Amino acid sequence: MVTIRVPIAEHRDASYDILIGRGLLAELPTLLQRECPASAYAVISDSHVGPRYGENVVREVSGTGCGAELFTFPAGEWNKTRETWAALSDRMLAGQFGRDAAVVGLGGGVVGDVAGFVAATYLRGVPYVQVPTTLLAMIDSSIGGKTGVDVPAGKNLLGAFHQPRLVVTDLEVLGTLPPVQLTAGMAEALKHAVIADAEYFALLEREGRGGRGGAGGAVRERDPEFLERVVTRSVAIKAQVIAADEREAGPVGHAIETVAKFAVAHGEAVAIGMAAEARLAERLGVAERGTAERIHRALEAYGLPLEVPSETTPDDLLAAMQHDKKVRAGAIRFALPARIGEMHVDARTGWTVPAPAAVVREALEFKR
Ligand SMILES: NC(=O)c1ccc[n+]([C@@H]2O[C@H](COP(=O)([O-])OP(=O)(O)OC[C@H]3O[C@@H](n4cnc5c(N)ncnc54)[C@H](O)[C@@H]3O)[C@@H](O)[C@H]2O)c1
Repeated sequence: MVTIRVPIAEHRDASYDILIGRGLLAELPTLLQRECPASAYAVISDSHVGPRYGENVVREVSGTGCGAELFTFPAGEWNKTRETWAALSDRMLAGQFGRDAAVVGLGGGVVGDVAGFVAATYLRGVPYVQVPTTLLAMIDSSIGGKTGVDVPAGKNLLGAFHQPRLVVTDLEVLGTLPPVQLTAGMAEALKHAVIADAEYFALLEREGRGGRGGAGGAVRERDPEFLERVVTRSVAIKAQVIAADEREAGPVGHAIETVAKFAVAHGEAVAIGMAAEARLAERLGVAERGTAERIHRALEAYGLPLEVPSETTPDDLLAAMQHDKKVRAGAIRFALPARIGEMHVDARTGWTVPAPAAVVREALEFKR
């Protein structure tokens, strides 16, 4: 088992461990009692993961003498809503979960965000343990304490920061993850490599090339050693960079999710955004030449998209970005790579670079 500590600068007591290993679900009852003791656990999951893993977890946790109940909601991003948050909270109230209870979020990023928001608000906040079951949740969304739901005005617009007490990552559950979800997770892994680790990027490139039909061989075959390296390296990078308030998808990916709603999976939006931002970085003279093409080839090797989806136009995306929080003095700002493994930083303007709309549009209009 590997343990990675996530430091929380402003509250040392809120720092927590991410445990990564095989078969950790079986140890969950002991881990919960040790790291997050509670009189009862509300295990929140979705309609895919609940029946597959949640029922067993609840049985084993109940076996230790504390209360445990499974609360599921229908799977899918379109259920990451206020209504789901309200229904789960009401069911916990009806079940008389008290202040000495804790929430366990067992599932992908959707479950993590909803369960975390329930935990953040239930009786003004109860402790929370994340048990991520998608690659994306393991390496990205379970780390950093961002919780929340989507509303008609946009994604993740209502939420709270609520750090988990513990994150338990059992690599064995990746065995049942649909291939398209594994691929989506690889978009985040490639993003981490671009941000912070050229050697890691080279490893992902090599393994991606090994795939037949551009599906990323080691991922498609669920090579356990490779997936373990991906999870441990990406978690370590994510744990380092969360302090820098990294955006969930970058301005382009975020705009794609806003405009295309549920037609594009989060991981795909991350991939398209990363590719567009790399092209932009080269056009602005911020990134080394060839950076975008290397990112393109790596994304393609894992079967990830590069072009903006047909449901959206560059104009729609630009309009969504104008509304984005990072708009300052009329220019849209981007965190951009300088080269693979390193982000651009400027002593004068900091981490983000302003980009004129015309240049952003050019980067968005790309076709392979
Ligand atoms: N809070 C954050 O910091 C943060 C960061 C990135 C993404 N996110 C959020 O994460 C969400 C995307 O997460 P996701 O990609 O994990 O999607 P998801 O939670 O919808 O999971 C994808 C699908 O896989 C199924 N599934 C999960 N684990 C499984 C397993 N082990 N076996 C079989 N099926 C399984 C789920 O039921 C679902 O159908 C988005 O809402 C995004 O906004 C949050």
